[in-house]
Amino acid sequence: MANKFYQEYKLGILGGGQLGRMLIQSGIDLNIDFNVLDPDPKAPCHQISNFTCGKLTDFDTVIAFGEKCDLITIEIENVNTDALKQLVKMGKKVFPQPDVIELIQDKRVQKLFYRQNDIPTAEFILTEDRNEVVNNQAFLPAVHKLGKGGYDGQGVQMIRTANDIQKAFDRPGVLEKLVDFEKEIAVIVSRNERGEVRAFPSVEMVFHPEANLVEYLLSPAQISSEISRIASGLATKVVTELKMVGLLAVEMFVTKDGKVLVNEIAPRPHNSGHHTIEANVTSQYQQHLRAILGLAPGNTDSIRPAAMVNLLGEEGHSGIANYVGLEEVLAVEGTYVHLYGKKLTKPFRKMGHVTIVDHDIESLKKKIDFVKKTLKVTT
Ligand SMILES: Nc1ncnc2c1ncn2[C@@H]1O[C@H](COP(=O)(O)OP(=O)(O)O)[C@@H](O)[C@H]1O
Ligand SMILES: [Mg+2]
Repeated sequence: MANKFYQEYKLGILGGGQLGRMLIQSGIDLNIDFNVLDPDPKAPCHQISNFTCGKLTDFDTVIAFGEKCDLITIEIENVNTDALKQLVKMGKKVFPQPDVIELIQDKRVQKLFYRQNDIPTAEFILTEDRNEVVNNQAFLPAVHKLGKGGYDGQGVQMIRTANDIQKAFDRPGVLEKLVDFEKEIAVIVSRNERGEVRAFPSVEMVFHPEANLVEYLLSPAQISSEISRIASGLATKVVTELKMVGLLAVEMFVTKDGKVLVNEIAPRPHNSGHHTIEANVTSQYQQHLRAILGLAPGNTDSIRPAAMVNLLGEEGHSGIANYVGLEEVLAVEGTYVHLYGKKLTKPFRKMGHVTIVDHDIESLKKKIDFVKKTLKVTT
């Protein structure tokens, strides 16, 4: 095998979005040769890697791409896992392992995995079609999720009462009890081939009081040390039972009666770990590389409180992106702007994020408000 640190070692990433872009940023210091596959010729990684334009779900495309690499990883789950299994047979390292990616691709299989491994999760029923949702009215209020293919909220429906049932997906899904949660948190863990696991401190999604949308992420989460210990233990258990190598983001609910339930998992760097670039000793991106390269995990301690605000395309604007208020935001102490290199904006497209650090939570919140009302992506 080529020496890992002298640019002969080729790392392939399936997916060339912002997560790949930040992974590349953190790998430059390790002399890694990055190769990226993405269907969009202008994907955020296209100018900063050996870039191949092609479909991640196409068997032959993934094989042809992977054959040139020593180690293959992902920054999105929707990839051809048969091709990845074939690459493993051909002697390539693939982390996270293809069978773990496959399990996570289907929310139904994920839920069965939690049940089989005694991992607390919202009660659920597997449904094959809309009719089965109709026949389970006694289970409402519930959340109905597509097994496969949903992302960024596209595959999730609130079904509170019988009136909502007509809109239910007519495809295999999972009907989950609606959890009346106090907080929604996430813990990112890493595991390497030697089985060494490290958890990052938990992060909290802070919701807008009226709009019911995530406003920003706060690190560390404002929860008791007991809840934080339980959350970190659960994330460790999930990654260990999966025997996964790489980074795993574990989304959880903290219920009003103090229970912690696993909601869903993602086997890659995650939106809830962006702040680790500036706010933790080791970033999630560096940690992912350490895990898949078989290196010792880095220290995950939080250095200082941080908030992360996603920069989304403004409603009513589609076209070449224009960033309003960027200079004003950069003039605030403790703000770090990350733009994802996307030329075109559209409503709610993730165009970048801003991390804000401050030792004082009250002053941090004021800065969050300022960033949210000042920085806009228009056309
Ligand atoms: N069982 C549930 N009870 C209450 N809210 C839920 C439940 N499942 C999901 N949600 C809400 O919907 C959001 C999206 O669901 P999730 O399963 O995380 O799908 P996605 O793949 O879109 O992120 C969650 O972040 C949470 O706010
Ligand atoms: Mg989610």
